[in-house]
Formats: sequence, C-alpha cells, structure tokens
Amino acid sequence: MRIAHRINKLGTETAFSVSQEANNLKAQGKTVYPFHLGDINIITPKNVIDTCNDAMNKGITGYTSNYGLTALRETLAEDINKSRGTSYTLDNVTIQPGGKPVIGKFIMALMNPGDEVLYPNPGYPIYESMIEFHGGTGLAYGYKEGKTNFEIDFDDLESKITDKTKILVYNNLHNPTGAESSDEEMERIAKLVVKHDLYVLCDEAYFDLRYHGDSKSLTSYPGMEERCVILYTFSKKFSMTGWRLGAAIAPKEISEVIAKLNLNDESCTNHFIQYAAIEAITGDQSGSKQIISSLKKRRDLCVEMLNAIDGVSCFSPNATFYLFPNVTGVMDRKGYTSYEDFRKDVLYNTGVSFCTRLHFGRAKADEKNKYIRFAYSGIDEKDIIEGLTKLQEFLK
Ligand SMILES: Cc1ncc(COP(=O)(O)O)c(C=O)c1O
Repeated sequence: MRIAHRINKLGTETAFSVSQEANNLKAQGKTVYPFHLGDINIITPKNVIDTCNDAMNKGITGYTSNYGLTALRETLAEDINKSRGTSYTLDNVTIQPGGKPVIGKFIMALMNPGDEVLYPNPGYPIYESMIEFHGGTGLAYGYKEGKTNFEIDFDDLESKITDKTKILVYNNLHNPTGAESSDEEMERIAKLVVKHDLYVLCDEAYFDLRYHGDSKSLTSYPGMEERCVILYTFSKKFSMTGWRLGAAIAPKEISEVIAKLNLNDESCTNHFIQYAAIEAITGDQSGSKQIISSLKKRRDLCVEMLNAIDGVSCFSPNATFYLFPNVTGVMDRKGYTSYEDFRKDVLYNTGVSFCTRLHFGRAKADEKNKYIRFAYSGIDEKDIIEGLTKLQEFLK
C-alpha cells in the first residue's frame, strides 16, 4: 500500500484510544467509570429531536446551500450578536458538520505553508494536527495555575511570537483546564493580536456551557470582528455531539472561502437538522437548562471527592465540563514517574478511566507539575460517587 506522505503529518485525538481501552475492559465484564471523553450521556432536548423528525417527515431530505440554511444563519447571527455585542449578519455565518471542521477550514483559508501559528498546550489536539498537516509551524503556548483557575502563560506566549507568526488559536473557555480568561487577560490578547497583525481562531465550543454569569468573547473587543473566526458548536450546550452541527462565524470574505471549502468537501451540512438547530436556539430552553444543572451537580461532586485525596488539588471551574487536577503530590507519594503507568494502574485496579496531560500535547522539558483531565459529562452522579470512592481507596 502506498499511503500519501502528507498523512504522516496528521495527528489524532488520543483520548479516543483511552476510550478504546476502556471499552475493551467493559467488554470483558469489568465496571468502567468513564471520565475520559468529552461526550454527554444526556439526550438532546425533546423539542429539538421532534423538530428534526418533523422536518424529515415533511420531506426536507435533499441538499441545501453550501453556506447553510438562510434562516439558521440569520438566527445564529442574531444570537451571537446578543451575547457578544457584535454586528454579524447571515453573510458572516457558514453552517458546518460540527465545530471541529472549522479548525481545518480556518487553517486552509488563512495559513500559508511556513506560517507560524500559536496554539494552546495543553489544548485540543486537533489544532496542532491541522497546522502541521497543512504545512504550517505550530508554536505551543502554555497555561499556568493562578489563584482560582488556570491562566494563559503570557511570558511563554509572547516569547514565541516572531515576524512569521500569522495566527493565534485561542480557546476560551478552555479544554482541558476549564480556564476562563479574565477581562484583563482578554484585553491583553486583543492588544497582542493588533500589535502583531494576527488572525484568531476563537474556539468558543464551551461558550454557553457555564454555571453562573455570562461568557465573554474576544470578538466583543474593538477591531476583533475583522480578525476573528468563531468556532461555534451545538454539540455541548444542547447535548448534540452525535448530530454533527456547528458553524464558522467570520468576516464575509473568509466566510466565502469557507463556503467554497464546504462545497468541495461535504457539499452541505445535513439539511433537516438545521431546522432542529433553529429550535434549539429559539425554542423552549428547559432542556438545555436541565443539562447545565445536571452537569453542575456532577462538577461539585467530582471536585469535592478529588480534593479529598492526599496529593491532589483541583480547581472548580465555572465553565466547560472538564477538571484538570494537579496530581503531582499523589504521583510522587505513590512512586509514579510515568503518566501512562499511573493512568493504567488506576484504570485496571479501579475502573476509573481518565486522560492525562499528555493527551493534550507534549509536556515541556522543564514541566514539573503533573495533571490529569476528568470529563464529567458522560457519567451519572451515582457512578461518580462509586468510581471516585474506589479511586480514593486505591490512592490512600
Ligand atoms: C475545544 C474544542 N473545540 C472544538 C470541539 C469540537 O466539537 P464538535 O466537533 O463536536 O463541535 C471540541 C470537542 O470536544 C473541543 O473540546
């Protein structure tokens, strides 16, 4: 078989291999407590499902525009403007089969081979994969522990900028740490973007997944609308991960390029689910409120039970459904130097399955602290208690 050379540059989402390992254990009859994958075990709100079924039954089963359904693009522009104070119209919105495709399309639209791109590490692994695949040079910037949550390490970020740097990938609210930029941090990012004339991928996949207060967007800052592309997704807030539905919100010229990429790739996003998306945004919100309230209870339980383990310290982020506990103390106490040894020992002895820091990028040579990532979106309260009780016992 002669596979094309470019495939060697393609990365992967290694969390899926943890999933495979957990599923194999389950198939052998072992109890597994799934904290590894950012999927949600709560069904999509009924009004959204019903609207999708209605659309199909009405015969809306053919192609639609490569830009997406006009009514959905208008609805999204209005909704985004309300929460971000922006002035987008339907011309700025292209509908996508998920949020993830926005990453590759943004890179293809704006990055030339040889350009340098700043991306978060720890971070969603697809950024680095797409940058490298399309011939760019990825430069990772880090996060560090602040008083109540993680913060961007600006010394690291600024030290990576050169005159070849063209793009910044900015994921607020952040997977895997659950970090949320303060006003000061976001303002600093906006200034840096102008100073170095950058385009920004604003990955806002978790924008609406928060427990109190309102999320802020970089696009709200003066001059940012022209430089930012928002990655929007229906996956998280409406528990629609398997539907594959998202959008790119971009300056008109970039939207046109993205629509052309859509045409060459999937032609259009599923037609009938776009009617359901309008219902998700404009219809009864009790389903999504219920999702948020369930997730909040899970977060509180996980944070309390993880912090009760000697050598573990865990922030309680106000957003996303991820925790990024510092496990340096417990790994030292138990004599682990390898993340994989720690992860596997826990998995095979307790059934508790999680990702480690290494599933979100290479660790820096001088990185001293050790972290793991807990996703609490795919596990009920009862199983959280059962699993984390076993974890507490094992790590005593
Ligand atoms: C930071 C981030 N961006 C984008 C996505 C893509 O989500 P989707 O393709 O389901 O919209 C995810 C999914 O986990 C994510 O964590």
